[in-house]
Amino acid sequence: MASYATTSLLELEVVPTVAYTSNDGDDCTAKKMTKTSEDEEIEITLGQNMHASCLGIKEPEANDKVTGEKEAYLAGVLARYKKRWIERTQHHLGYPFNLDFDYGALDELQHFSLNNLGDPFIESNYGVHSRDFEVGVLDWFAHLWEIEKEEYWGYVTNGGTEGNLHGILTGREVFSDGILYASKDSHYSVFKAARMYRMECIEIETLVSGEIDCLNLKIKLLQNQSKPAILNVNIGTTVKGAIDDLDLVIHTLEECGYAHNRFYIHCDGALFGLMLPFLNKAPQVTFKKPIDSVSVSGHKFVGCPMPCGVQIVRRKHISALSRNIEYLVSMDATITGSRNGHAPIFLWYTLSRKGYHGFQKEVRMCLDNALYLKDRLSEVGVSVMLNELSNTVVFERPQDEEFVQRWQLACQGNIAHAVVMPNVTREKLNIFLDELVEKRSKWFKDVGNQPSCVAFMIGKENCACPLHKITTHK
Ligand SMILES: Cc1ncc(COP(=O)(O)O)c(C=O)c1O
Repeated sequence: MASYATTSLLELEVVPTVAYTSNDGDDCTAKKMTKTSEDEEIEITLGQNMHASCLGIKEPEANDKVTGEKEAYLAGVLARYKKRWIERTQHHLGYPFNLDFDYGALDELQHFSLNNLGDPFIESNYGVHSRDFEVGVLDWFAHLWEIEKEEYWGYVTNGGTEGNLHGILTGREVFSDGILYASKDSHYSVFKAARMYRMECIEIETLVSGEIDCLNLKIKLLQNQSKPAILNVNIGTTVKGAIDDLDLVIHTLEECGYAHNRFYIHCDGALFGLMLPFLNKAPQVTFKKPIDSVSVSGHKFVGCPMPCGVQIVRRKHISALSRNIEYLVSMDATITGSRNGHAPIFLWYTLSRKGYHGFQKEVRMCLDNALYLKDRLSEVGVSVMLNELSNTVVFERPQDEEFVQRWQLACQGNIAHAVVMPNVTREKLNIFLDELVEKRSKWFKDVGNQPSCVAFMIGKENCACPLHKITTHK
């Protein structure tokens, strides 16, 4: 029987570089153009085509069971991958995932097919569920974002994307003719939601920091006053970690004549939704303000081995969405049917262990370490920006993709970012900085090759390209 398994990846101790050629000579990478300044575009290589290195499923031989050959093969594959994941965990800076957790106490969960299908608050006929944990987690977040138990509804989602899909859908069900407003730095899931729900969506300009430009919002709101507004407010943007000024957004809506019953605000707090409440000077996300839903990812600041998230919505809106499902003996107001029953237990476990105080300490540590990284990058002449109250350090894109891949940096155009999460220690940052400094001395040893200008992306005061270094860093 034909087997499609390839073993190439299994032999690798280090991750391959981006560009490679498949066995039949095809280039397995995809490319796209991206804008790096007002008038410059560069070609960016997207990821690899996984078909060239995937682990095909090998049909078991008739006597596999007897010889144990199959078990040995499977164990070998997993052992090699585990080694690889350990190495990749050590060199991770680009995505907002807290990789520091220990869920050994939950090992036994793998024996149960936990599924919270249906509404978290209405027990379905399927008994192997974790609703008790789920509602405990929801109550914890409801308390954090200041909404009474009887006034909220929510559920543990599959992540920030599902939270956005749910928040925007709820807004659309409340205002069927509403227009979605989102800054252009919003996560791609927001624009996907608009396409999925065939909603009119208006993109709002951003400031250099990545924050929504409320002057531009005002112009667009005034042009469309006849229709209700559904707003996506970023509590931390993906690329620059910018926090939209929620109070100014609300003020702008009011100023443009939108009464509170004519707008719906969804707060996308994928990462920062769990950070801002612990920062004294931060603008607060609270249901005491006229907001309608908040979402956060669970695998980000909390840290979890599987993607998950939390969605909290004003209970009064849920009737617009919810349908009775007889065979479940529950209601359907979630995006998916079957829902991960393991995730709520992982969240419950960490929230119970760390508590509000534990998170507060970690948030402060991350912000301190982010500032340290920013200062050190600046000292060695790297263009760098760090928004206030943010742990997302934005800097010039390293020149070679191998380095980008080694540290798993997320890049957009000529900028890259490192997100300083609780597992990113100073020791790790020092290793990264030393490697970067060494690489830069090679990249820029010829006068003909100098760091790119990133003023367009991060502001000229943060840009250390030859032109701006001279004019602004005198
Ligand atoms: C601002 C923002 N919203 C939503 C998401 C999507 O979250 P998830 O990856 O948990 O689906 C992200 C992911 O990074 C994000 O940065």
